[in-house]
Amino acid sequence: MADQKSFGIAGLLGWPVAHSRSPVIHNHWLAEHGIPGRYMLFPVPPEKLEAAVRGMAALGLRGCNVTTPHKQAIFPLLDRVDDLARRIGAVNTVVVEKDGTLTGFNNDGNGFIQSLRDADPKWRPDVGPILVLGAGGASRAVVASLAAQGAKEIRVTNRTQEKAQEIAEAVGPMVKVVAWSDREAALGDVALLANATSLGSAGKPPLEISLDRLPKAALVGDLIYVPPETPVLAAARIRGNVTVNGLGLLLNQARPAFNAWFGVMPEITPALRQAIAATF
Ligand code: ATR
Repeated sequence: MADQKSFGIAGLLGWPVAHSRSPVIHNHWLAEHGIPGRYMLFPVPPEKLEAAVRGMAALGLRGCNVTTPHKQAIFPLLDRVDDLARRIGAVNTVVVEKDGTLTGFNNDGNGFIQSLRDADPKWRPDVGPILVLGAGGASRAVVASLAAQGAKEIRVTNRTQEKAQEIAEAVGPMVKVVAWSDREAALGDVALLANATSLGSAGKPPLEISLDRLPKAALVGDLIYVPPETPVLAAARIRGNVTVNGLGLLLNQARPAFNAWFGVMPEITPALRQAIAATF
């Protein structure tokens, strides 16, 4: 268990980091549990990443989250990276171990899966086919985590098909590549539709997809949380599907990180959701 007596510091390494909601989450939990500490933003340009990471243990940091553009670049600076993060090809959480060595994890995909189960406890990754839209870093985290949790068929479709192919090769034979033009035909029997493209986020065009063939029992998840309801989530909600936005991912990926840094597994309470809502 992490040392709870000394002032514990963790934070976010990224470039830029200003718009992150992670400080709200972790500082809320620190206050809730009476743990002396602070979660801070560390704007670190790429050329200073190595110096920043090398200094973490010496400065007494408990660990950090990692965001763009460092999620891949940090690999060679860590002492060990867990299997799932390796398969994803990105690290989103670093833990400074008692001996000062650094371990990398990626909780993004598992956080997304947990948020889906929170919304629909009957859903599991293996209850039916899954269609994932997009093949960037976020998609890769979700697809690798769904496969690790037993998904039997994950269809991945992307405007640039080679990137979907790369995910299939990295993750395994349960991943089937679907042409972007066939995305609606691939909806007919799915138990989960997940948007991991940036389409529908603030300032971007909406995702173009008709949900006519989507089963009413299917869950619809979007990794985006600004805005809180993307056009595709609104369309899914109106036709009766259970929908989940990307806030659940953000909150759920933070829980195991907080536990590793501060020694308490925190909960996602209405008060925390309110604190986040107040930032919009
Ligand atoms: P992230 O790290 O959040 O996944 P990313 O790696 O930039 O971000 O990925 C963005 C995703 O949105 C990609 O799947 C991208 O498709 P391409 O790989 O073809 O670029 C998808 N995307 C972005 N703009 C799009 C558009 N106008 N039409 C279709 N897909 C789009």
